[in-house]
This record gives sequence, C-alpha cells and structure tokens, in this order.
Amino acid sequence: MNEISNIHYQVLNDYDEMSRQAAEKIIEQVNTKPASLVCLAAGGTPTGTLKYLVEAARNKEIDFSQCHFVGLDEFVGLSWEDEGSCYRYINEHFFTPLAIFHDRIHFFKADSDDLQKECEKNDSFIQKHDGIDVLLLGVGVNGHLALNEPYVNRELNSHVINLDETTKRVGQKYFSQEAKLEKGITIGLKQMLEAETTIVIANGEVKKEAISAFLKGEADEKYPVSVLNLHENCYVFVDKEAHPVS
Ligand code: PGA
Repeated sequence: MNEISNIHYQVLNDYDEMSRQAAEKIIEQVNTKPASLVCLAAGGTPTGTLKYLVEAARNKEIDFSQCHFVGLDEFVGLSWEDEGSCYRYINEHFFTPLAIFHDRIHFFKADSDDLQKECEKNDSFIQKHDGIDVLLLGVGVNGHLALNEPYVNRELNSHVINLDETTKRVGQKYFSQEAKLEKGITIGLKQMLEAETTIVIANGEVKKEAISAFLKGEADEKYPVSVLNLHENCYVFVDKEAHPVS
C-alpha cells in the first residue's frame, strides 16, 4: 500500500478485488465500533462492495444491527421509490437483504418542498451521532464526491447544489429514460473530511483523470476528490484501469 500524504492508496487487479478490499476495510471498522454511523454511496461502483458486505453479514463476520445509516446524496426531485434514487439503490442492495429497520436510517427526501430543512435534518442526524464513522464513496468522472461538484466550497455541510454538465450527462446511466437532472442534495466535503474513516473506490479508465488529480497530493478545487488529501484516515482502492501509469 502506498502512502501519499496521509492517504492509504492501493491499486487492485480488478473490480472484484477492489470491491472486496473496500468491504474488508468497512468490516474492520464496524467490528471496531459496532454502533457506527455508516454512510454508503450509491452508483455503479459500490455494487460489488455491498454484495461482499451482505455476504459477510450473512456469514456472521459482521453485525450491522447496532449501526445507523445516513444518506449521502440524491438528485433533487426524486422520491425514495424513484428509479435512480440513492435510497432505492441502497435499499435494494443493502437494507432489504439485511432487513435493516427504518428507525436506523436517515436519508434526504429530495422531493421535499423544503430542501433547506432536509439539509438541516441530515446535519443534525450526523451531529447527534458525533459524525460519520465509516464513509464509502465513489468518484465521479469529473472528480466529484457524492454531489460535491467541481469548485464546491469545502467548508459546507449538507447543501443543495447545481449539477455540473458532466454529472447531468453521466447521471443518465441510472435512468431508463432521459432524466432532467439540474440540482443535487448532498452531504458536504466538511462532513467527509470529518468522517472517522473514509473509503474511496474507483474503477475503469473513465476515472483515471480524477484519480490522477487526486494523486498530485494537493487539494485542487477543480477535483473535489483531491480534497481528501486533507483527510486523516482515508483509504483509496482503485483497479488497474483507474490508476494513472506515469
Ligand atoms: P459511479 O458513480 O459509481 O456510478 O461511477 C460515481 C459517482 O458519480 O460518484
């Protein structure tokens, strides 16, 4: 494992190895603190990691029953049932298979009339639990983290944001018909930097530019992922295709 600033960076052979490695780190963290506040990314990247976590829970290698779960982000306008929603994805890949109760879960309601209130409720939930213990993130093609888009203010907690053109375009992959994506609601970089353990996964050639910016070791606002260079306990697992070869 290479150490860049205080980041643990590891290149794995393929998607499966990357997914397993991320799952193992999450298992280690939750076993250390069974009553963790966990925040999991949705998207194409985390599916394998969630599969390993569900398997591990079924094999009694990990017990999520004392954890709470907070939502990471949503496209504004989507309900929890809508295709493409973060809640729907995590529900399908994680909450339902593990029968996790609703009273342990707090997610943004991105179809609310009062999004500011949704941000406040998310922040209070995180604060009530003394911050996020385990945070799993993917990386956008444009280097975004959740919906913290290029040039976002890194001092923000939960907020509503105008989506970057790349996010609007790439985000279409989560929908069967063209979706009107304009704004997002997301936890902020500040909360990510304060998370006890942050795990980032990225696979495929399309993530190379973002990973390359991150590997410069500086917080470059154009690539929100690079702000994680300021994190004190961050693990980045990428596959060979996402790793820039110098
Ligand atoms: P993906 O999305 O996992 O579907 O590639 C990552 C992201 O946009 O954060």
